[in-house]
Amino acid sequence: MTESMIGRALPRVDGPLKVTGRAPYVADITVPELTHGYVLSSRIAKGWIRSIDTQKALDIQGVLKIFTHENRPRTAWFDRSYRDQDSPDGSPFRPLASERIYFSGQPVALVVAETLEIARYAASLIEVEYGAEPPTTSLETQRDKAFDPGKAKSGYEPPPNSRGNPEEAFTEAPIQIEAHYSTPMQHHNPMEMHASTVIWEGDERLTVYDKTQSVLNSQSYVCSVFNLKKDKVRVLSPFVGGAFGSGLRPQYQLFMAVMASLELKRSVRVVLTRPQMFTFGHRPRSLQTLRMATDQDGQLQSITHEALSETSQFEDYAEQIVAWSGSGYQCDNIRLDHKLARLDTYTPLDMRAPGAASGVYALETAIDEMAFAAGIDPLEFRKKNHADHDHLHDKPFSTKELLACFEEGAARFGWAGRPQSPRSMREGHQLVGWGMASGMWEAYQRPASARAILTADGRLIVSSATADFGTGTYTVMSQIAAETLGLPLRDVVFKLGDSSLPFAPLSGGSFTASSVGSAVLAVCQKLKRKVFDLASGLKDLPFYKHSFEEVVFADGFLHLKSHPTQLLSIASILRYAGVSSLDEEVKSLPNVVKQERFSRVTHAAVFVEVKVDEDFGTVTVSRVVSAVDAGIILNPLTARSQIVGGVVWGISMALQEESIMDHKLGRFMNHDLAEYHIPVHKDIPDIDVIFIEEKDEIVNPLGIKGLGEIGIVGVPAAVGNAIFHATGRRLRDLPFTLDKVIA
Ligand code: MOS
Repeated sequence: MTESMIGRALPRVDGPLKVTGRAPYVADITVPELTHGYVLSSRIAKGWIRSIDTQKALDIQGVLKIFTHENRPRTAWFDRSYRDQDSPDGSPFRPLASERIYFSGQPVALVVAETLEIARYAASLIEVEYGAEPPTTSLETQRDKAFDPGKAKSGYEPPPNSRGNPEEAFTEAPIQIEAHYSTPMQHHNPMEMHASTVIWEGDERLTVYDKTQSVLNSQSYVCSVFNLKKDKVRVLSPFVGGAFGSGLRPQYQLFMAVMASLELKRSVRVVLTRPQMFTFGHRPRSLQTLRMATDQDGQLQSITHEALSETSQFEDYAEQIVAWSGSGYQCDNIRLDHKLARLDTYTPLDMRAPGAASGVYALETAIDEMAFAAGIDPLEFRKKNHADHDHLHDKPFSTKELLACFEEGAARFGWAGRPQSPRSMREGHQLVGWGMASGMWEAYQRPASARAILTADGRLIVSSATADFGTGTYTVMSQIAAETLGLPLRDVVFKLGDSSLPFAPLSGGSFTASSVGSAVLAVCQKLKRKVFDLASGLKDLPFYKHSFEEVVFADGFLHLKSHPTQLLSIASILRYAGVSSLDEEVKSLPNVVKQERFSRVTHAAVFVEVKVDEDFGTVTVSRVVSAVDAGIILNPLTARSQIVGGVVWGISMALQEESIMDHKLGRFMNHDLAEYHIPVHKDIPDIDVIFIEEKDEIVNPLGIKGLGEIGIVGVPAAVGNAIFHATGRRLRDLPFTLDKVIA
């Protein structure tokens, strides 16, 4: 028997292409006579365009056309009922629809020219006169206009709002805390800018390279908006340079590039600039209040979690911020409330662990405050109030290994040696603190399809219209296929990022491995059965009339369990059977009836050490241990990368990241990577990742619960709790910059 492919720490199968620069990204795609579009962004955040004069720009040689709301083609279909797969309820932003301005940086014109330089220069000559109105961009000022998002067509469900009698239980309990928390707006900032290269194939047929987390979502957007048949539009996205949620919705550069291509009958590329990456979608700002109370023994008696977050004037973006407080701990009296308020910004957008990153931050900080008030070690407090059952939804957990995460994480970190009081540890000028927090994210499975073709030479091509935006999809899907059919990895190719491939859901929510992986497993199982049927039907072969269970598939060969040395290759079986190839497609559906009876959640326990400079208020994270319960781990190497990425982002969220709004201009002022701070190598210590593996029989046939989001959840709270332990100062407004630490 060969070693299992599942669970092997294999390097990325697409790694060599990436490190040698042969993996093409959207802005690398080129064709003869490609034209270039440059987007002109609005200088105001609210109001209207009084006039737009493009004459000077048009006079520049090499400029082909300038599109504005005044001359955009009528072919663009602006049906207000249109929704993409990730759009919240409301009316999606329609570029160049009218003179109205809804947010700063809104595209007001597209210059198309023979070169990018000409397009960009010409755009600088466009004269726009605006009628400006004062924008509303501060969430704090909109409390009285907040509204209940309610159940949305897009799938958002508000959490059940109460259980027991939280007010009374709070008043009667001997130990209480109440605190206000805030999280800032943040932008995704993947390394690769959003871009679309549209290749005009003639006859209104387009090949579109788009930076996206779903080629099918981009395809249906283009077809709906421009009223094109699906067979006219093929969307490709073989490599994505990071996305983190920013690619879940088609962004406006796609609209611009397709519009220009159809109108000019030319190939067009539109790449956004880094500042323009701040003009669509962001993690919404949240203002949160938590009230908690325990009895004398530190048993939770009451939790109230209220949140206010922002949305735009045109869509109702709601994410699960408060629900985690209802299911995370054992408590009989709970009230949850989440409201939205409208700002003059683009609609917020899912960003790694949307809702959980901000909601669990507040919850896990409040839990630390509660533990401190009750005089109990924060880890002990969490164990004491651990929820064995999801009381919010009144369901058992499919699996929950949080206690094991606590155990192993604490042991690795050395938590047992932690002094209870703040300001107890010091190294010269540095105050040292240890903090921890729990993380949670849902384990989803969505319907997905996969196709598998076994060719006469024994090679396997598996495909699905999913994405790999750095997550390792190419690699783990190849592993599942190789494992199922007993093939060496080199004989397996996995294809993705092409709208002509079988259906896959959006790649997001940490459900790609679970959804697409289940389809890959199913289609390869079907193919395996077919190979067996061929083999056992051939009189001359040793498998004749043997049962499926008696045959072993390994390393590209078949043999009988009883005769391990009598090998026949898969290729030779196809040859004997006179079959040139086998081709199967399977749609894999979640077993909803079985799954719905359980709460399916991934968990993590994060332990952090910080060092705080007493004089300067600078915070260094010096150690992190993250123990994660995410079911079966397909590939410990790519899985670890996911968690490390999440932890780095969590540290960034804790200490640095914030999109700073100038409320007078309604504009993000730090819209580049010089001013929008993210960590560099020196800011990041060694990150110790532990996987508590378990086979979850409920979540999907592979027993995997998903990774990606879970890595970030809990990290900002753990950092803040460590700062409290170091300094005795409780910080509640992210990010914890030195001015707040030292204040
Ligand atoms: Mo993630 S926010 O689902 O890319």
